Amino acid sequence: MKLLENKWALITGSSRGIGQQIAMGLAERKCNIIVHARKAENADKTIGLLKPYGVKTHVVTGVLDSVEGVEGIIRAVEALPVKLDILYNNAAIMSKWQPMWQIPQAEWLRVFQTNLCAMVQLCTAFAPGMKERGFGRIINLTSGIKDNPELTPYSVSKAAVDKYSRDLAYELR
Ligand SMILES: NC(=O)c1ccc[n+]([C@@H]2O[C@H](COP(=O)([O-])OP(=O)(O)OC[C@H]3O[C@@H](n4cnc5c(N)ncnc54)[C@H](OP(=O)(O)O)[C@@H]3O)[C@@H](O)[C@H]2O)c1
Repeated sequence: MKLLENKWALITGSSRGIGQQIAMGLAERKCNIIVHARKAENADKTIGLLKPYGVKTHVVTGVLDSVEGVEGIIRAVEALPVKLDILYNNAAIMSKWQPMWQIPQAEWLRVFQTNLCAMVQLCTAFAPGMKERGFGRIINLTSGIKDNPELTPYSVSKAAVDKYSRDLAYELR
């Protein structure tokens, strides 16, 4: 697929799970990959899995659960000798399974920071450059979760991701 050939994609949370599969799927289409994980060693397995595809790779590290952590990730990407073409906001955390009335406020803030606010920060950092260069793709991963009040910080954060993504799409139409 020529569209993705030699492009650069950052996939948050690509050290395992769905993010790792996305990295391999894009690499199969000859897209170069910036693997993201919390620690460099967490990215080793994905980097190994990407080798057979012959694409170029970089690793960036940092946490999404704080504004400063996301700023560090943005700085690390900007310091690379490449321009970002594709931002794949994959990483998210599940909230702790607990009765609705016992969910602490801190849990809401932790989940919203990681699943929504970090995504907004990354889109805000990278979308204008994509627009200026005349090419860009942003994918925000959501979830079909519903009717699980015990996981409501997670499901509400994903509903917010849906709404944010619709507004972002309109802005970039
Ligand atoms: N799994 C499902 O059944 C399912 C269903 C619907 C939607 N989804 C969505 O799919 C996406 C991926 O889910 P998954 O199940 O593949 O996730 P996962 O296996 O738990 O992987 C999470 C990834 O996010 C990174 N991560 C976790 N906490 C982080 C933090 N605080 N700061 C920075 N990075 C962090 C991890 O990095 P480290 O390796 O460094 O820890 C890892 O790479 C999420 O958006 C999720 O909501 C998943």
